[in-house]
Amino acid sequence: MIQRLALRGKTYDIHIREGLLDDCGGLIREYLGAYCASEVVLITESNVRRRYAARMGDALARARIAFWPFVLRPGERSKSSASLARLYDAFAARRLRRDGLILAFGGGVVGDLAGFAAATWMRGVRFVQIPTTLLAQVDASIGGKTAVNTRAGKNLVGAFHQPSLVLSDPALLADLPAREFRCGMAEAVKYGAVRSKRLFERLRTAPDRAALCDIIGECCAIKAGIVERDVFDTGERMILNFGHSFGHAIETLGEFRRYKHGEAVAMGMVSAAETGERLGLTARGSADALRAVLAAQGLETDCPYTPAELLPQMETDKKNSGGTLRLVLLAAPGEAFVHTLDRAALRKAMGGI
Ligand code: GLY
Repeated sequence: MIQRLALRGKTYDIHIREGLLDDCGGLIREYLGAYCASEVVLITESNVRRRYAARMGDALARARIAFWPFVLRPGERSKSSASLARLYDAFAARRLRRDGLILAFGGGVVGDLAGFAAATWMRGVRFVQIPTTLLAQVDASIGGKTAVNTRAGKNLVGAFHQPSLVLSDPALLADLPAREFRCGMAEAVKYGAVRSKRLFERLRTAPDRAALCDIIGECCAIKAGIVERDVFDTGERMILNFGHSFGHAIETLGEFRRYKHGEAVAMGMVSAAETGERLGLTARGSADALRAVLAAQGLETDCPYTPAELLPQMETDKKNSGGTLRLVLLAAPGEAFVHTLDRAALRKAMGGI
């Protein structure tokens, strides 16, 4: 299946197919056409390298694409300015020029870091996303958000830089730890909740292998449409943060160890739906519907923190401005909107603290 994201001045394809890893070289060669990238760097992390480097190496060799690898440690700590500095040093040593190509082969951390390096090196080098986690296949690899973490906070330093091509092989997901997989499903549920009642209903049962490929395609199609209409996240794209204001607060209170991002977003979506119901803006029963769908995907839905704990964290969210908070709410599953309210109103809607 191929989805397409069409922006003014940049259109790219998102290929989703089992077994696609072995055809990566051919698809990149096809994208490059007559153009020959002066240098190709493959950025990955050590777990991905251990599992798939040989297959990726063969796929690129068959397409006569010479590359050099850059391997990160797995985990969020690699999304740092220190890793970025090491990458820049390697680019300089290898004389990577503006006509080079970066391949980001891994999950969200690799994609975000490699994407930011691609956005900034020589003021912009082309890059290809080859996501290996469900979360990256349904969400992070599409739409051009790139970032590194700094002492000031997660993702505060970043750039919009669209990939030139996205190559997703759902067969790789069979190797994902179950917890990682569930985190990706939380984001898939988010796509149903914000834009597609049909997808939302479909997720009332855990997908088999064939359905999974389809679900990834559906999430990508929804995201592509939204990004096409609001590439810089100033309007409609904000609905993709459904559950994230609460979710970031939950992650922070758990010191980024207790819950993974997708787990926190799952609880955050339920909290947002409950808040919307209390405000009279969300159809009654929406929070229960979300609980049922998320539980079917093996996700916890009960937020362990009190409104008094959550609220101060939510006030630091980068979507807020001028003393008001912006919250993504559901009218009903399948339909989201951005709601602006002040602290007192939110406090009351969260259960009056
Ligand atoms: N992950 C949400 C977005 O790309 O806007």
